[in-house]
Order: sequence, then structure tokens, then C-alpha cells
Amino acid sequence: MDNKYRPIGVFDSGIGGLTVLKEIIKEMPNESTIYLGDTARVPYGIRSPETVIRYSLENTHFLYSKDIKLLVVACNTASSISLDSIRRTVSIPVVGVIEPGAKAAVRTTRNKRVGVIGTEATIRSSSYEKSIKSVDRDIEVYQLPCPLFVPLVEEGWVEGEIATMVAEKYLLDMKDIGIDTLVLGCTHYPLLKGVISKVMDKEVTLIDSAVEVAKEIKEILETSDLKKGYQGGALREFYVTDLPERFVIVGERFLGSSIEHIEMIKL
Ligand code: DGL
Repeated sequence: MDNKYRPIGVFDSGIGGLTVLKEIIKEMPNESTIYLGDTARVPYGIRSPETVIRYSLENTHFLYSKDIKLLVVACNTASSISLDSIRRTVSIPVVGVIEPGAKAAVRTTRNKRVGVIGTEATIRSSSYEKSIKSVDRDIEVYQLPCPLFVPLVEEGWVEGEIATMVAEKYLLDMKDIGIDTLVLGCTHYPLLKGVISKVMDKEVTLIDSAVEVAKEIKEILETSDLKKGYQGGALREFYVTDLPERFVIVGERFLGSSIEHIEMIKL
């Protein structure tokens, strides 16, 4: 197939990466996409680096076998830990979510105090801190794992008393530090934007990596002459590693549109 017409591959540990897919579709509606959610093995955020790398490479091999033109690692945990291993395995552009989010934080902060929230594995890897400091070493980075946010979002509890209480418990210290920029360093957190911005000061800017990633992908496709243009409809394929029913119900809420072509696979 002509390189331009090949699909973009996106993987996540589960459902959360649909927030990234949503932005990709918004930015490039004509591009075909294949999404893989490793729902049988989610969450990645509590696992060892060795396990996250093994899972990420298996996901990569599956999507690569589908003749994708570009791979998006939508999962912050996988991006933090596995990106180098993935890039060594495939000969197509690979886009992670850490660098675009980190760059946006550097552009945004005025007082050079940036907060980063994510899964335990993402925070342990210090991927955002390293990426931010590689651009501007004078920026102070305050990192915090917020493990309860993922199950809250999976349950659909993205607003109301319980979500607010959990957000307060995690974030009030971060607020006291006086950060002016907060990186939502996990696929699920953009769904909690409302609650998070209510808890933080109004002046704190929330960075949603998904938006930044979509912009970066568009740029790569344009500069490497891989952009599809306007001919032909876009295909939307979905694969999961466990039963698809729950993925479809919760996923449609994440994506904001219907999920039709979905298949369960074994990696
Ligand atoms: N997708 C993961 C991330 O962005 C969150 C869920 C998980 O722990 O697997 O870090």
C-alpha cells in the first residue's frame, strides 16, 4: 500500500489511550487508525520496568504486523519506560507522550515551578522531570503519583464528592508549593480535568499531553511526506486483549464517538 494510506497505530495499556486517539482524530480526521488496548494486562502503572517493556514490545509487534506508518505509544507508563526499546525494534516513526507534554510545560510555566502527576511507574522513572530539565534545567519539578485516579475514571466517577475528595487529598500540597503548571501525565487524568482545576488555583494551567501529541504527529506526517490528504474514508479498527463489552461501553465515553470494528486478540 502507498505509505500515505497506511494507518496510524496507537497502543495503550487499556482504555485510557482513547483520550489520545480522540485528539488524533480531531486533528487529522482523514487518517486511518488502529487502536490496541491491552485490557487483559492493565494496569501497567504498578508493574516493574521489565514487565512494561515486555508488554510494550508485544503490543508493538502486533501493530507493526498491521502495516502501520507511525506508532503512537499513548500510555504514559509505557512511554516513560519502553520508548527506546520500541524504537530499536521498528523502522517507522514512534511517538511517545512524555516529550510533547514536557515541552508544553516548559513553554507554559512563568514561575518555573511545574507539577507532574502520573502512575507510580511513570513518577518513579522521572521521565517528565528529565525531559523538562533537558530543555530548561532551572525549572523545579514536583512529582506525585496519584494511583486512585485511574480506577475512579474507569468507574466513570469523574466528578462529584468522591472524585473531589481524592483530588484534594493528592493535590493540596502541590497547590501549597505554588506551581503554575500541572502536567496530567497519565492517559486517564484529562477526564478529571474539571475536578483537578477546581482543586488547584485558577492560575494553574493543566497540560494535557494528548493535545500536544496529536500536534506532533501531524507535524511528523507532514515533514516526512506521510500525510494522507483528503482521498478516501478513514478506517477505525480496535483490538483488545480481553472481552470487548466493557471497553466499548466505557471507551465510547472516553472517545466521544461509537466503537464499531472491535476484535479480541491474543498477543
Ligand atoms: N495508561 C496508563 C498511563 O498513562 C494508565 C493506566 C495504567 O496504569 O495502565 O500511565
